[in-house]
Amino acid sequence: MLNEHEQKEVISLVKKTKDLIFREMEAAKVTVKGAADYVTNVDFAVQEFLKKELDVLFPDIRMIAEEKENKNLSPDASYWILDPIDGTTNLIHHYGLSAVALALYEHGEITFGAVYNPFHEELFYASRGNGAFLNGEKIHVNNQIGLVDAVVSYGSAPYEKDRADKLFPLFYRIFKSVADFRRTGSAELDLCYVACGRQHAFIEQNLKPWDYAAGSLILTEAGGVISDWEGKTLPYLRNSDIAASTKTIAEHVIKMLQG
Ligand code: IPD
Ligand code: CA
Repeated sequence: MLNEHEQKEVISLVKKTKDLIFREMEAAKVTVKGAADYVTNVDFAVQEFLKKELDVLFPDIRMIAEEKENKNLSPDASYWILDPIDGTTNLIHHYGLSAVALALYEHGEITFGAVYNPFHEELFYASRGNGAFLNGEKIHVNNQIGLVDAVVSYGSAPYEKDRADKLFPLFYRIFKSVADFRRTGSAELDLCYVACGRQHAFIEQNLKPWDYAAGSLILTEAGGVISDWEGKTLPYLRNSDIAASTKTIAEHVIKMLQG
């Protein structure tokens, strides 16, 4: 577990990425990784900056990150899990919903998470057992909302379009039972938005560890519930389907996902 001073140091590093992001966006170099899957010079610059700075402060903690190879992982070790830019497609199109997401994994659980959207100047963070915060204010999921009034955010699994034939009929059925759908384009922000009550559930298949690690702790520390689509605990070092919601509608959400 990071102590309070270390948490502040890490949060300050995460916030330092803002200038870098805005500067690198002017150069705007986009590379295609796969179908609808992009990486920019911004992703690389943020990853390189945080890796270098964290290596100095915590030389014993390795990093798992989106834009690098992540081999020989051991569940008993500690790792930083980083998405340098979650919401890369949004970044390319100046949508304003992109975030730097950094988590600390220690022996099977996430003990610290920070998700920072420099475009809205919003920093969500949590440390295990100490609650979740948005810009220093404590946040909580909204347990007053039942299923029919729930705003549900879905991820469309954009890099695996073969999933759409089954996914969209499922989303259609869920849509009929809730108030409305959202699609933010950043899984980490989706989890934080459930945590602070802007939406009440988030569902997506096959997310990578860096898409959900930081937000998962922020959500549970804000009183929310997160699991895979069968209601099982998240693996953290592997991809997982994600079902996140308030406590009030958690059972309904899992039931609907199971069809
Ligand atoms: C993506 C975003 C998106 C989600 C994708 C993720 P990226 O991350 O979180 O909302 O639908 O599954 O891969 O590629 O922008 O880092
Ligand atoms: Ca991501």
